[in-house]
Amino acid sequence: MDDRGEATNMADASRKVTVVGAGNVGSNVTRRVAEKDLADEVVMIDIVEGLPQGLALDISHSAPVEGFDCRVSGTNDYANTAESDVVVITAGLPRKPGMSRMDLLEKNSEIVKGVTTSIVEHSPECVIVVVSNPLDEMTFLASVASGFPKERVMGMAGVLDSSRLRYFIAEQLDVAPRSVEAMTLGSHGDQMLALPRHATVGGRSLPDLMSEEDLQKLFTRTRDAGAEIVGYLKKGSAFYAPSSSAARMVDALLAGGDEILPTCAWTTGQYGIKDVYLGVPARLGPGGVQEIVELELTGDERAELAAAAEAIRAKCDELAAHGST
Ligand code: LAC
Repeated sequence: MDDRGEATNMADASRKVTVVGAGNVGSNVTRRVAEKDLADEVVMIDIVEGLPQGLALDISHSAPVEGFDCRVSGTNDYANTAESDVVVITAGLPRKPGMSRMDLLEKNSEIVKGVTTSIVEHSPECVIVVVSNPLDEMTFLASVASGFPKERVMGMAGVLDSSRLRYFIAEQLDVAPRSVEAMTLGSHGDQMLALPRHATVGGRSLPDLMSEEDLQKLFTRTRDAGAEIVGYLKKGSAFYAPSSSAARMVDALLAGGDEILPTCAWTTGQYGIKDVYLGVPARLGPGGVQEIVELELTGDERAELAAAAEAIRAKCDELAAHGST
């Protein structure tokens, strides 16, 4: 194991996950990590007194029925999150109808910064997965606030966006969702990029199975899927698929590596892009992002990815200029 792996305590037999935020996303990440026994212990923390404790107790009571061993607890005290291997940050406000993820920038910046500082104090060697919106910018902010090496801070969006796309493709073609492989890159927002040439259904190339027009419709629906759900729910945003996706990343991070998931990761020259957080395929494992994988892209796809990167960079520069970092 390399230095980074040792430093993250991955050599310890006991795996501890902290979930910050006991809202719908946070409580469901906690539940999924526990139900799948992805860790030995999961701690949910929130500022609201009693909320994480009550939800954690409720989840614990399902252990005999669901058949998991993972210990679940809730707390308002960061001391109880100490020595976590992976920390999932879901804290922050969700969208209301008509709001874009970007409308949350100011409020959630303060929350994410504060939370990250407290987490780092007690788990200086952890890996952080940010889920709060606007995702790409909040990941950057957490990275700055943590002072961690960039590979130890990442964001969850690509797994969710890709899962939505895979579902829509499966629905359209009337096949099992699991038989569809597809990936989205770029931003968790308007500059999300789909890669049809890399998508497969039961091993067959997606563009052979669907018209360009149908593909485009599914991509657009995927890009706007979060807003579609907010529109139905009226208050609050999606949480079942976001929590599945965050738990999936926790699994990859704790499982020993070698799994490639679309991740909001710090670029260092891949795809001709550097020094910005961006949705890219990343190999995850102990210590965080082990490698950004470079798929072969067309000129147009590269240009779209670069445009997404520049839009995220501009927002992050704005944050820095306002002293939010
Ligand atoms: C969504 C929110 C979580 O995409 O960003 O549903």
